[in-house]
Amino acid sequence: MPRLEWTDDLATGNVRVDAQHRQLIRFANLFFEAVAAGKEANILAEAFAMLATYIGEHFRDEEIFFRRMRARRLDDQRVEHVRLENEFQAIHAAWRAKGFAADRETVDSVKRWIETRLLPHMVFDRQVIAEGPGTPRG
Ligand SMILES: [Fe+2]
Ligand SMILES: [Fe+2]
Repeated sequence: MPRLEWTDDLATGNVRVDAQHRQLIRFANLFFEAVAAGKEANILAEAFAMLATYIGEHFRDEEIFFRRMRARRLDDQRVEHVRLENEFQAIHAAWRAKGFAADRETVDSVKRWIETRLLPHMVFDRQVIAEGPGTPRG
């Protein structure tokens, strides 16, 4: 069963953001472990919902932080957060249609989404934090 790892290159340097990013990976791993352990559908659904909820909470919290620091690309972040949440909800909906049964395809979808969408987004978060406050140029 896939297990995701935190790596130093994901660090944004902001303690709060990094703690939340680590927590996202932790929730994803809990879901993978629950599937691997053959847990019942309701337990799997709960593990997935925890991850889904935390994704939303993290994005909202990060947007508040970016607004306070007057981040240059706050709007780009907001747009990307909505896009990411929609994508994740689509995975959630597809899995719901399968009755939340342990399912390789869903696990692979979640893992692929995290690796190709969420982790690269964390690198974007790092760039936004590194840019600091200010108005966009041009
Ligand atoms: Fe983030
Ligand atoms: Fe973000």
